[in-house]
Amino acid sequence: MQTIRSIKGMQAASRKLARQGKGIGLVPTMGYLHEGHLALIRRAKKAADVVVVSIFVNPAQFAPNEDFKRYPRDEKGDMRKIKSAGGDIVFIPRTNDIYPDDFQTYVTVEKLTKKLEGKSRPTHFRGVTTVVAKLFNIIRPDVAVFGMKDYQQAVVLRQMMRDLGYPIKFIVAPTVREKDGLAMSSRNRYFDDIGRWEAVCLYYALRTAREMVKGGVDDPKLVKREMTAVIRSNCPSAQVDYIAFTEFWTLTSVRKIDRNTVCSLAVRVHDVRLIDNMRLC
Ligand code: PAJ
Repeated sequence: MQTIRSIKGMQAASRKLARQGKGIGLVPTMGYLHEGHLALIRRAKKAADVVVVSIFVNPAQFAPNEDFKRYPRDEKGDMRKIKSAGGDIVFIPRTNDIYPDDFQTYVTVEKLTKKLEGKSRPTHFRGVTTVVAKLFNIIRPDVAVFGMKDYQQAVVLRQMMRDLGYPIKFIVAPTVREKDGLAMSSRNRYFDDIGRWEAVCLYYALRTAREMVKGGVDDPKLVKREMTAVIRSNCPSAQVDYIAFTEFWTLTSVRKIDRNTVCSLAVRVHDVRLIDNMRLC
């Protein structure tokens, strides 16, 4: 496995692979990897000859009040995990190389980023699309793999790829969960025991929603009411930011739940903001 830290070095490696006719798969991450990330690497490996995993805690996608400074980092552990999952190149650019002092050009997806997460994180997706566009330009992958865990992020990035005409195959891989159902996240490490125990309320709520829909309910209002009750009873201190029922690729709210509907929610548990989602039928 090769580690590359300079942009020039990464560009040269990509050019060489392209000359050799090798397909490049990219898995962008912010590090502190868990099984969810590793599943993306394995998925990329199936779709490409060579898998590049980028690790970059992207300051542009954190608001000033968010956790950029304390975001967990473990480069050595990450390297070991990437190797075990079949990654070939780890790209770890320096912050100053991605955002030089006079940096002033951003990529913005307009409408989709105003919904759901965008309401409480208005500058977040601009940071995500800008850094991912930069990674695409540097690495020139044939395939890029993202996780369904960050549903809106996947939708926004797909829109960016279509609008800017990137010739990249876009794969969204399923959410990997802990044994009790909590979606894996680098941020789960912020929890103490009680918080960790209560964090599973998002999954319980989604499971309840799925059961209701399987039982014939298709009214988002009814399902939302029940989900809120499940969250309250499992985690009394939880603050629900939103529970939404949207059409998969457009993020438009639906009046009736069907197979193309994604239920997504954001809940603050013990001061950690968690997101999760599920298709209900
Ligand atoms: P990060 O949170 O590190 O996630 C990297 C990738 O892993 C994303 O595509 C995310 O959706 C996916 N992922 C996270 N948890 C997962 C889980 N439990 N199961 C499956 N996939 C999961 O998302 C980002 O970083 C950044 O915004 C990034 C795209 C790298 C841009 O900076």
